Amino acid sequence: MLNFAYMNFYELVAQRQSDRNYEAESPVEREKIERILEAARLAPSACNAQPWKIIVVDNPELKNQLADATAAKALMMNHFTKQAPVHLVIVEEGANISSTIGGWVKRKHFPHIDLGIIAEHICLAATAEGLGTCMIGWFDENKVRKLLNIPKQKRPILIITLGYSAQPLREKKRKAINEIVSWNRY
Ligand SMILES: Cc1cc2nc3c(=O)[nH]c(=O)nc-3n(C[C@H](O)[C@H](O)[C@H](O)COP(=O)(O)O)c2cc1C
Repeated sequence: MLNFAYMNFYELVAQRQSDRNYEAESPVEREKIERILEAARLAPSACNAQPWKIIVVDNPELKNQLADATAAKALMMNHFTKQAPVHLVIVEEGANISSTIGGWVKRKHFPHIDLGIIAEHICLAATAEGLGTCMIGWFDENKVRKLLNIPKQKRPILIITLGYSAQPLREKKRKAINEIVSWNRY
């Protein structure tokens, strides 16, 4: 089952980047999407609640409408999303009792943490498949809900654009390790 031609983990992490330019005419193979979704399914979550649903949007017309719901012209935000042939919409589902009570006691909204984890599983799996992604947190939630028939009480939290990237790998801009890590004390 495992294909050892895939990159090792550290290469994968270095290769993943937010791609904002795609080969609009190159569709994504169904088998690749299915493997990415399987990697998503295996993601961990608080109390194994798995408080998520993923809507795969590959119908070109619907995908373009969805892309419009992510773009904010005045702010030059997310103008690239239409180029990506597939959008994955991650919807927050109700968590189980243990996660909900645990979150209430510890004052942590575990589902948002869980959704971040599944999103990164998706992006890393896509990278392993030679595909580009970008997580999109800025979008018109109501428009997205309407377009995809998401019930009113549920929230689409993240959208991930997916496609063959037309962007070269760039150097990552990150804080230095000593700014973000300390050992044995804050
Ligand atoms: C929760 C979240 C929301 C994001 N939303 C957007 C977005 O709406 N539009 C966008 O272009 N990038 C978005 N990004 C991508 C970040 O800008 C990007 O990950 C960050 O700048 C680091 O760059 P890199 O992913 O290329 O390493 C988002 C990333 C995360 C984790």
